[in-house]
Amino acid sequence: MTRAITLHDVSKSYTRGVRVVDRLSLDIAPGEFLVLLGPSGCGKSTVLRMIAGLEEITEGEVLLDGERANELQPSERDMAMVFQNFALYPSMTNRDNIGFPLRFETPGADPRPRVDATARMLGIEDLLDRFPSQLSGGERQRVAMGRAIARHPSAFLMDEPLSNLDAKFRNHLRAEIASLTRKLGVTTIYVTHDQAEAMSLGDRVAVLRGGVLQQLDTPRTVYGLPRNVFVAAFIGTPRINLLRGLVRAPIGGAMAISLGKQYLRLPEPLSLDHQLLRVQQGREVIVGLRSEAVRIAKPSAGRPGEVALTGLVGHVEFQGHEVLVHFNTGSRPAVVPDLEAPRPARRPPRRRRREGAVLARLRERAGALRAGPVVAPDNPPDEFAEPAPPEGRLPGDLVVRTTPDIELRHGMEVPLLVDLAHLFVFDQHGERICPAPARLPDLED
Ligand SMILES: Nc1ncnc2c1ncn2[C@@H]1O[C@H](COP(=O)(O)OP(=O)(O)OP(=O)(O)O)[C@@H](O)[C@H]1O
Ligand SMILES: [Mg+2]
Repeated sequence: MTRAITLHDVSKSYTRGVRVVDRLSLDIAPGEFLVLLGPSGCGKSTVLRMIAGLEEITEGEVLLDGERANELQPSERDMAMVFQNFALYPSMTNRDNIGFPLRFETPGADPRPRVDATARMLGIEDLLDRFPSQLSGGERQRVAMGRAIARHPSAFLMDEPLSNLDAKFRNHLRAEIASLTRKLGVTTIYVTHDQAEAMSLGDRVAVLRGGVLQQLDTPRTVYGLPRNVFVAAFIGTPRINLLRGLVRAPIGGAMAISLGKQYLRLPEPLSLDHQLLRVQQGREVIVGLRSEAVRIAKPSAGRPGEVALTGLVGHVEFQGHEVLVHFNTGSRPAVVPDLEAPRPARRPPRRRRREGAVLARLRERAGALRAGPVVAPDNPPDEFAEPAPPEGRLPGDLVVRTTPDIELRHGMEVPLLVDLAHLFVFDQHGERICPAPARLPDLED
């Protein structure tokens, strides 16, 4: 049996007034693979532990198959947890480690058939008679996984189960976890701070920041239609280019986004998306360009919807099959705080008491999505400042992917084309303006 897991406005406070998880609502379908993704300290493990019953829920409800489960003991929830620091009993063979929980579940029954079937599934039949100390890290993690699977739980809760392994093993086991949980059809909640892992595993990804849900969508949608600049910056490698822009929409004139020394002229007739920018006239916005939105090419090679920029070559990162070129275009990068760093949750604002209930609720809702400013202030304090480039090197504000065969020298002026179909624009609070909510770039047909 597999379970539907629902969180309804779930909050957790260790200290009064500070919510490390802030009114989180999730609806996880039976058999779904949901990934909880976010930077360190954003509350991922706390959420998982509340679902497992290992942590008390301060406010809100957890429902299992529609029934309130807040008061259920962990053992009554029929869930198996796999942790980052998996603990195997060193004095037991791997076979006994896997079979151990079965002794309690079905006392008297022979655990062998289940242990053997599980080991076959994980490809560890040959390791069963050894002890954990005689295994590699990856093998040990499989035994730990085996112990979770053998029980046939109704849900798996996995907290960064692969982060202790080296990159090669991690990729390998990641693929195995994906196919295994699909085969078993068991609801799985998987915690990670690694966006690539989240994207490759999840049916849906829930992005958390400071205990607040930012977006819950399929991997394709969180990448293609990030709800705000935090999600846009957290997801995708290389990281999306975020530039500060100013919208210029003179009456009767062509519309453009000024990027400091250069500007992106928006072609007429304006697309529906770009029309949304008209009301931003004179305002600062954040322009988001993923590396695939920009290519190295002369203006004469431009296709419809592409506009020209010029960049000075800064750092060139050779990656084998491709090269990442850091250009200087004379714009100011927008810096998003706490992409990696932990950040304490805010106290609820005092003034709420004096406001009307509706206004307070609206304010709360807006604040809930953002969990504080998404973009660093104009004169960012040192912690938000971009690290200075090494002496004699141009600061890069735009990273572009290209093939390794192009000869690029430091300081060289290079023509660039920006594909406006891949242009993201966010408002000053970091909320996405373009593309409009209903559209996913390049995915219409
Ligand atoms: N027992 C506790 N008492 C007080 N604060 C706690 C406790 N456990 C966690 N916290 C705080 O709650 C916040 C969320 O912690 P949590 O462990 O859920 O983060 P996380 O997203 O899992 O981070 P990581 O990726 O580093 O594992 C952090 O700020 C943490 O310091
Ligand atoms: Mg954690």
